[in-house]
Amino acid sequence: MSATLAPAGVRIRPLGTAIGADIEGVDLARLDDTTFAAIERAWGEHLVLRFRAQTLTDVDLMNFSRRIGTLDRIPIRAAGVPMTADPRLAIAPEAVEYVAVISNVKLDGKAIGGLGNYESHWHTDMSYNDIPPMASALYAIEVPPSGGNTSFANMYAAFETLDAATRARIGGLTCIHDASRNSVGELRRGFADIADPSQTVGARHPIVRTHPVTNRKCLFLGRRRSAYIPELSLQDSEALLDHLWAHATAPRFCWTQVWQAGDLVMWDNRCTLHRRDEFDDSYQRIMHRTQMCGDRPY
Ligand code: OGA
Ligand code: MN
Repeated sequence: MSATLAPAGVRIRPLGTAIGADIEGVDLARLDDTTFAAIERAWGEHLVLRFRAQTLTDVDLMNFSRRIGTLDRIPIRAAGVPMTADPRLAIAPEAVEYVAVISNVKLDGKAIGGLGNYESHWHTDMSYNDIPPMASALYAIEVPPSGGNTSFANMYAAFETLDAATRARIGGLTCIHDASRNSVGELRRGFADIADPSQTVGARHPIVRTHPVTNRKCLFLGRRRSAYIPELSLQDSEALLDHLWAHATAPRFCWTQVWQAGDLVMWDNRCTLHRRDEFDDSYQRIMHRTQMCGDRPY
């Protein structure tokens, strides 16, 4: 794949044909406005951007993220530990509310962050909220030698390639996005374990959303488990959701990130899905994530 030359010597190298690009020649801790404008343009086109070999403090991560949008608060269960003997395990005190720790590391038997070493199923971040974050930026501090890869899927492409009958059918439909579990399936504090998807508690969003910046339509699926289309019977909802999910997560819409320490990957939650492989719990994986406020899907 050839690289395109952007202003200020920034190189944009697509990571395949479906989704994602490497941005080379950029230090995210020292970004000027011209370079950021090139990054934003590339993000609109590629949906997921990777920046390798970065050295970022939590404050650097927050400052870069603030250029993309207003920082959103972290989800429950991803709160980091402000002071530890090992600085690699700590989170800056000023980052506690805005930088989520995604890690399997335990200190004194207590997880320092969220998601453990488990597989996380296809999802988009915090779509169970009425106003889900538009973007997330995930920065790798320490990664295992293998496993824990993160895949991304292009929901514009998924929408555009749907059969015409399904596309017409879903135009006016909504979906309830389950708030009770995180992406590795853990039940959140304060939520009941509901077996019947028609009773699911969470935000209700259109299945087809219009991206507020590009004005393009895409599928907005959130997560499969406990999802429910309230305009349909449970049986019809299950069948349609199975059909949409099987289509949307086909490998031709996807790209998989194999992490190196120092990678920062940012993605657009409005028009992508992501999932993560499990990994060997005897290795440490430490990631810091920001999420940027979005608007109500329409
Ligand atoms: C996330 C997430 C994937 C990963 O941070 O939102 O899904 O690779 N993480 O840990
Ligand atoms: Mn996620």
